[in-house]
Amino acid sequence: MTNYIEKFKLKNKKAIVCGGLGLIGKEVSIALSQAGAKVLILDNNESAWKEFKEKNKELDLDFVKFDITDISNLGKNISKVYKDFGPIDILINTAYPRTKDWGNKLEDIKAESWQKNVDMLMNSYCLITKEIAELMKKDKIKGSIINFGSVHGIVGPDFGVYSGTDMTSPAAYSAIKGGIINFSRYAASYYGKYQIRVNCLCPGGIFDNQDKTFVANYEERTPLKRMGNPEEIASAALFLASDASSYITGTTFMVDGGWTCI
Ligand SMILES: NC(=O)c1ccc[n+]([C@@H]2O[C@H](COP(=O)([O-])OP(=O)(O)OC[C@H]3O[C@@H](n4cnc5c(N)ncnc54)[C@H](O)[C@@H]3O)[C@@H](O)[C@H]2O)c1
Repeated sequence: MTNYIEKFKLKNKKAIVCGGLGLIGKEVSIALSQAGAKVLILDNNESAWKEFKEKNKELDLDFVKFDITDISNLGKNISKVYKDFGPIDILINTAYPRTKDWGNKLEDIKAESWQKNVDMLMNSYCLITKEIAELMKKDKIKGSIINFGSVHGIVGPDFGVYSGTDMTSPAAYSAIKGGIINFSRYAASYYGKYQIRVNCLCPGGIFDNQDKTFVANYEERTPLKRMGNPEEIASAALFLASDASSYITGTTFMVDGGWTCI
């Protein structure tokens, strides 16, 4: 008889979580570690690491300070991490670098800012995916790569949820997340014959003490009538990372309370 619970376990697996100290990344790191993986967090926020490690002493978590926006050295830097810590079975791309003018209206965005965000948030995910997949291929690892998309990579923003607030959804975000989603399909197709899986996990809005008007608008618009929480995203990441999803690749996995079904 198949032991289904065992399929969700990550015993003897090694995982890299890029952006593992963020709102979602922390919970993903905890979930993978609880399931038995050795987790290496790559993040540029060293002070957040000290606090996170202190709170989670019992978990097998490690950290390397890493900047995913150093595009010209990304291949070299990520392959050094792989060699020092690896071989790697699981890669999660959930870092969220953005420029200072992130959130400005479309008409106010300068070309250089647009290009920078595409480089920092989309090109970095694609290049890290390629680099790790090549190393997995060389080491014959049946790896799982999970790139973070968003509902905004699937549908345009419903600007109604921002009414009565000074919030908006940046235009570049839609372009970037759409790009990450389709690159993940490309990589899934490209690396499938090596049994390397590449999936895109797309959260809806996660509650983080946002403006009360926004939260109320967002809840009203969402079929489940609430925002999500990081733990709900982490469970989905654990599923996609584990052998429980061994026949799933190239998928765009929505964890959005139904946002994109209407
Ligand atoms: N929070 C949401 O509501 C939501 C919704 C949909 C999709 N997402 C996606 O989920 C992912 C994570 O979002 P989040 O809300 O946890 O973000 P966050 O801002 O809370 O965390 C991002 C993490 O990335 C790290 N980081 C930033 N720049 C970096 C760099 N140059 N190099 C390495 N690490 C860097 C930060 O230090 C931080 O730990 C993103 O891809 C985001 O687009 C989030």
